[in-house]
Amino acid sequence: MLRKKAIAFISWRSRLNKNHANNICSTPSKNRITDIILFIKQYIKNPKEIGSLTPSSNSLSKMMTESIVGNGDTLIELGAGTGVFTKLIKLKFKDHKFYVFEKNTNFHENLLNIKNIDLRCNALDMTNIIDKNKTKVSDVISGLPLRSIDNEISNVILSHAFCLLINGGQFIQFTYGLKSPISNSFLKEHNMVLNKKIHVIKNIPPATIYIYKKIL
Ligand SMILES: C[S@@+](CC[C@H](N)C(=O)[O-])C[C@H]1O[C@@H](n2cnc3c(N)ncnc32)[C@H](O)[C@@H]1O
Repeated sequence: MLRKKAIAFISWRSRLNKNHANNICSTPSKNRITDIILFIKQYIKNPKEIGSLTPSSNSLSKMMTESIVGNGDTLIELGAGTGVFTKLIKLKFKDHKFYVFEKNTNFHENLLNIKNIDLRCNALDMTNIIDKNKTKVSDVISGLPLRSIDNEISNVILSHAFCLLINGGQFIQFTYGLKSPISNSFLKEHNMVLNKKIHVIKNIPPATIYIYKKIL
């Protein structure tokens, strides 16, 4: 019974994505199903850190990556999962230095197949790896489940990301909740402001993209 429900869910989820895909971000449905199965397995093992039962839809991936300005020389992605954003970013910003952080070992191993990215593990190590004085980070794209991971950890990751951004740089985060996943006081403390919100209905569950901007 449970198996039947899981199969029905997976095929409905991949049909939804196929219908809403445009050419650049359509993923072969076999890969999509493999990714969904991998996601469900990882979620069962560690729901707090994975934060979602399935990878983001093509619509959400497209909206997240279309928001990138890229007016520096470096991009950072946090919590790449199966790489739905990573692949699109790599297509669009071929010449940028691109750091990708993914902590989960199974996802990390899969991401090794994507060429010309600097793949790392824990986003907590960001400032040990990236030198603010030698890079111009214009955008940080985050799929981190900020609402479910430990607050202290997310605060450290966020402050490192905000610190690395150039003036005017963007922190792009999606969330399933109705409120900003980052408090106003935390943003203010780090010279960040909420610049834009985009609702994406074509995702399960529907999501909102929050774009925060650094203002010095
Ligand atoms: C909700 S999933 C998003 C995956 C993908 N971006 C997407 O939208 O389909 C969150 C991801 O963040 C990763 N993650 C959680 N904590 C992390 C950390 N400290 N460093 C790097 N990745 C982390 C999880 O392993 C998971 O792959």
